[in-house]
Amino acid sequence: MSTELLEQKFNEKIDQEVRIEPKDWMPEKYRKTLIRQISQHAHSEIVGMLPEANWITRAPSLRRKAAALAKVQDEAGHGLYLYSACETLGVERDDLLADLHSGKAKYSSIFNYPTLSWADMGAIGWLVDGAAIMNQVPLCRASYGPYARAMVRVCKEESFHQRQGYEIMLTLCKGSEAQKKMAQDALNRWWWPSLMMFGPTDADSKHTEQSMRWGIKRFTNDELRQKFVDVTIPQAEILGLTVPDKDLKWNEERGHYDFGEINWEEFFNVISGNGPCNKQRIDARKKAYDDGAWVREAANAYAEKKAKKKVA
Ligand SMILES: [Fe+2]
Ligand SMILES: [Fe+2]
Repeated sequence: MSTELLEQKFNEKIDQEVRIEPKDWMPEKYRKTLIRQISQHAHSEIVGMLPEANWITRAPSLRRKAAALAKVQDEAGHGLYLYSACETLGVERDDLLADLHSGKAKYSSIFNYPTLSWADMGAIGWLVDGAAIMNQVPLCRASYGPYARAMVRVCKEESFHQRQGYEIMLTLCKGSEAQKKMAQDALNRWWWPSLMMFGPTDADSKHTEQSMRWGIKRFTNDELRQKFVDVTIPQAEILGLTVPDKDLKWNEERGHYDFGEINWEEFFNVISGNGPCNKQRIDARKKAYDDGAWVREAANAYAEKKAKKKVA
């Protein structure tokens, strides 16, 4: 079959919402874009374990510790599903990790901010996992089968993360003055970085149009950001906290909240490697990779031994 015919068949499938599977023909640009998107997502999951792991030993109760531990383990699992989904596109996990370690591959800007208090565990669950859900639920309908299927389970777990985070915030807000202050401080620090998680504005987002056409993105960055603001403001009101944005206002005509300008300079600075914790995060990932070398060696030695036995 000629490439043109293959491409035509591929486009028909996309139009009819038929999933593309690993062995199907796909345009090279589609494959490359997916590798970038899925690996970025996988990296975000495993780097995202770090700010919260910091608080597992300092959680205020056994119940909180168990929930924090389960959450961080879930994120490791998300990383694994996504690296596996990415490998179905013909790349090696080691190469993906090498790109993360060298700074070539990106991950979500949000994980380069420090977690300064226990309330940050609440704010991250509520806002960061909340933003992740907003981004990821539409991806359960992504055109690439392995990615879409991985997202189904990821989203179920993210919703547990969001709820446990919100419950931490609710508990703090119903507590002492000092606890409420701690919750407000966490919201102040995490609000804007959470809005940045949706990425540059539509006008500045170079991949959006093509990715929407391919069904690997279902809403634009600005649409998702607006949805997030609209669902989150009433939640902040229930908590009795103030969102740190003086321009925030319900717009009756639009049926949405208006909100202030994001500090894009900060965003681009953080994604280009100069956020408060970028170096610390990459160093921690490299150390984890190096410390795990013996596990990979042992697994390879065992696989070799088994293969030899089969031959004999
Ligand atoms: Fe996750
Ligand atoms: Fe999560």
